Amino acid sequence: MMQKIWICGANGMLGSHFKVLCEKLKISYIATNRQQIDITELDAVSEFTRKQKISHIVNCAAYTNVDQAEHEPSNAYRSNAMGPHNLGIAARRHGARVIHFSTDYVFDGKQKTPYTEEDTCSPQSAYGLSKLAGEVKLLNEHKNVCLIRSSWLFGDVGRNFVSTILGLLSEKNEIDVVSDQVGRPTYCQDLAEAALKLLDVNGIFHFANNNETSWYKYALEIFNQAKALHFPIKTQIIRPIPSTEYLSATQRPAYSSLDTKKFQEQFGYKAPRPWPLALQECLTNLKNMSQKQE
Ligand SMILES: NC(=O)c1ccc[n+]([C@@H]2O[C@H](COP(=O)([O-])OP(=O)(O)OC[C@H]3O[C@@H](n4cnc5c(N)ncnc54)[C@H](OP(=O)(O)O)[C@@H]3O)[C@@H](O)[C@H]2O)c1
Repeated sequence: MMQKIWICGANGMLGSHFKVLCEKLKISYIATNRQQIDITELDAVSEFTRKQKISHIVNCAAYTNVDQAEHEPSNAYRSNAMGPHNLGIAARRHGARVIHFSTDYVFDGKQKTPYTEEDTCSPQSAYGLSKLAGEVKLLNEHKNVCLIRSSWLFGDVGRNFVSTILGLLSEKNEIDVVSDQVGRPTYCQDLAEAALKLLDVNGIFHFANNNETSWYKYALEIFNQAKALHFPIKTQIIRPIPSTEYLSATQRPAYSSLDTKKFQEQFGYKAPRPWPLALQECLTNLKNMSQKQE
């Protein structure tokens, strides 16, 4: 079968980056958003895979509103567990592979060392539970699956920590940022590149940009880089706060650094690029886009 990638959930942050990358590398792909194909509808998913002669389904579709998932866990489950299951069924029927994304939220966040692919999953939130259910369905019931867990995604489009902090920096004199949660920020462009390497590999892989940090230190780096790039900045003080002072519906993992050695060894990599370098590329792209709009 000729290679043809189907990017579902293509209007999301990761999906948008995936499209740009396929375009740049002249990879044959077709992209659908939720209105075109809802992955919870098996017949539509299966028919599309067959008709389009899809060889690889890259699943960028997901229910990602972590706080809202606490109030509507069945919606999260439908998209995050039944959706991937449907993709697995369609892939099996029509000889395709599934490349699926999961999250650091499948872990309990209590470890003190980076989580490896073998570590026990124990989600502490409805979102994490729904994502783990998707993993289990895909891995237990389907073959030809690559599952890539990542963390703290940021990108050139959509709402994410970088865009939120940029917004706050332009509006507020002071901002408070949680300093006792640690993880590895990951640029969607780097994650999409990693996924392309894994198109024909089965199993679970962790991928994240290099080096762990706290949300507070991450915000400081955004501040410094944004200042250097002449983004509008009103903020004078960025204050570290404990997560107990940050009101949210969801308990977020205190420590969710993912160990990426398995991915590195598979491809003879030293390490994924450090997140501040990836951040620089993202902020430069955002700056260029805002200048074009002016
Ligand atoms: N964001 C993070 O920090 C993070 C961290 C670790 C892992 N991940 C994982 O990375 C993947 C990509 O996340 P992202 O941040 O790019 O998410 P995103 O920006 O929220 O994009 C998800 C896309 O999926 C669509 N979608 C939701 N349910 C669907 C369905 N049933 N059928 C078709 N499309 C559907 C959404 O459409 P609507 O907007 O119309 O609902 C949205 O366009 C997800 O698997 C996520 O769990 C994300």
